[in-house]
Amino acid sequence: MATTPVPTFDRPEPIPVALTYDDVLLVPKRSAVRSRRDVSTKTFLSRRVRLNIPIVASNMDTVCEAAMAVAMAREGGIGILHRFCSVEEQCAMVRKVKRAQSLIVDDPRTIAPTATKAEALLGFAWEGRKGGVRSLMVVDGFRRLLGIVTPSDIQFSSDRVTVSDVMTPRDKLKVLTTTQVSVDDARQLMHQHRTSNIPIVNGENQLVGLITGSDIAKLLNNVHASLDTRSRLLVGAAVGVKSADISRAEALVAAGVDALVIDIAHGHSDFCLDMLKALKANPKTNTVDIIAGNIATAEAARDLIAGGADGLKVGVGPGSICITRLVAGSGVPQLTALLDVCRVARRAGIPVIADGGVRTAGDVSKAMAAGASTVMLGNMLAGTDESPGKVLVKDGKKVKIIRGMAGYGANISKAEREQQLEDDVFLDLVPEGVEGSVAYKGAVGSILKQVVGGLRSGMSYCGVTRIEDMPKGASFVRMTTAGLKESGPHDISKL
Ligand code: XMP
Repeated sequence: MATTPVPTFDRPEPIPVALTYDDVLLVPKRSAVRSRRDVSTKTFLSRRVRLNIPIVASNMDTVCEAAMAVAMAREGGIGILHRFCSVEEQCAMVRKVKRAQSLIVDDPRTIAPTATKAEALLGFAWEGRKGGVRSLMVVDGFRRLLGIVTPSDIQFSSDRVTVSDVMTPRDKLKVLTTTQVSVDDARQLMHQHRTSNIPIVNGENQLVGLITGSDIAKLLNNVHASLDTRSRLLVGAAVGVKSADISRAEALVAAGVDALVIDIAHGHSDFCLDMLKALKANPKTNTVDIIAGNIATAEAARDLIAGGADGLKVGVGPGSICITRLVAGSGVPQLTALLDVCRVARRAGIPVIADGGVRTAGDVSKAMAAGASTVMLGNMLAGTDESPGKVLVKDGKKVKIIRGMAGYGANISKAEREQQLEDDVFLDLVPEGVEGSVAYKGAVGSILKQVVGGLRSGMSYCGVTRIEDMPKGASFVRMTTAGLKESGPHDISKL
């Protein structure tokens, strides 16, 4: 009688042990680092995207929209805009970040010389920048520059004046005829001519750009900001793996995004590989770096690198609001996942993002020592002013909400934002994320200072001055439960 053949398989014995941040410590090494200031925190998000600090805001709808992305880039990191919204909404966020500052505004707001006072006042309140604009370029029908009008030119004038009556005319302005100008050139010119607006014109006196005092001030005040070649803030955005995500990706690149992150829970899948290859082959999207994830093994790293990934995102199950490991029984503790992926990725020169499970500045040092180039933070940033959502009061304490993107809340609000809410759409959803609250923490800048300060300290304990040298300089020791207990504050009476 024929029997059903029993499939055979090889299982590595014994089952390997996998570790995470709390299982290890970095052994202090002899160090020539005399000051934490001697340590550089420059790094790469992906093959071509450089950052000044290795911190990335997570593409979660309770963590990163435009305000967080602006703040992160100003501090030298970057934010990845979540995709749980319509394409238009996500592109509007990209444009908002890109418009937050630039050395040269290439589409300055203009007005006709015949415009009325009321029209000029309307023109100042342009919705693109918070609070409107502080000057309007007066141009004729051929976009030739005639002058500049500012709110103070018009504020107390009679209602009957036209713009040409009150503007500062072209011959009284400092005007440039080149776009080849540095921040310092612009600062000096503004000081020399006591002006905060320098228009740029071409050979026909047509307006081609504007340098504003507020942009120069932002550039001078945030010297460590992550900037593109036009001194605009860097920003990334997440896309999914459905066919509609191709046009989302194209729209995001057209809006000015600097990197795309393929965001899928199981990045070592044909879905992710197919999307990666499609984006890399598409001339409308392959102009920016494509980061793929999330993964947790060396094999996944090999496959995604072969598929053309410019960066890898590592983390299956370590996130604070994540229940994937409970629901699916799958995942790899984060330190082992990083060590395995980074072994492959570093050889190929592909930067790795350590995504999820970072609870302390010490974990950031451990992630860098395992070979990561950046860490992605959700929980640590969700309670800040710049994260989306309101400050609530829970048990007398100020909190903000954080929720898993594979949970009910995020998916219901995604459907609402995309206007696709149908009654039975969530019957089949098996949530792999939960919702919770985190303490309200104020401005994100102060959190980043603590995290980066801790990393600098960690690097000095390992005797290295560059993030990329951390794996060489660092050795890990395993900890016992007693060691872990000894690591936190203990044996003190609470004040
Ligand atoms: P932390 O620990 O910084 O982690 O809050 C943030 C990361 O968690 C991941 N994430 C999820 N993982 N189910 C998951 O399994 C979810 O619903 C979920 N939402 C976010 C994500 O990688 C994020 O950056």
